[in-house]
Amino acid sequence: MIYPILKMGDQRLLRIAEQVQDFDTAELHQLIADMFETMQDANGAGLAAPQIGVNLQLVIFGFKKNSRYPDAPNVPETVLINPIITPIGSETDDAWEGCLSVPGMRGLVPRWSSVSYRGFDQYGQEIVREVNGFHARVVQHECDHLNGILYPMRIKDLTKFGYTEILFPELDATLDD
Ligand code: NI
Repeated sequence: MIYPILKMGDQRLLRIAEQVQDFDTAELHQLIADMFETMQDANGAGLAAPQIGVNLQLVIFGFKKNSRYPDAPNVPETVLINPIITPIGSETDDAWEGCLSVPGMRGLVPRWSSVSYRGFDQYGQEIVREVNGFHARVVQHECDHLNGILYPMRIKDLTKFGYTEILFPELDATLDD
């Protein structure tokens, strides 16, 4: 089932998500299947459960070469539950981000360059990874949704925030994340 995606301004996007308690349940598997269907329908790179109004610490992400991010590398398809992100070092990078909850826009957002993250998959198996670059950016963006943070709140220079079709006219304007 494809869910409607909540848009910025909806108070449900500002909540602190609750921990998932029960793993490997039919309900959880169905929710994750629906999230992937919703993300793929919207051509997104990631989706957090709060974006479909489900207030749980659950994110999905991952994609192959993507026309919205023509320079981005592949990121493995990942289900991440009850995540904890820890920066590695103090280096940050600025890069352009979009969000399915902020359709049609992009902003320049600083993120930790390298992070370690841990959490669980849908079966309750622990996930521990050290990542950098776009993978690190995506996981930071998605996990921000679990704390009620949307990327525009992290933009340092609001002159670097605008409509995708203006900022990146070469991109397919029908695509959004
Ligand atoms: Ni987002």
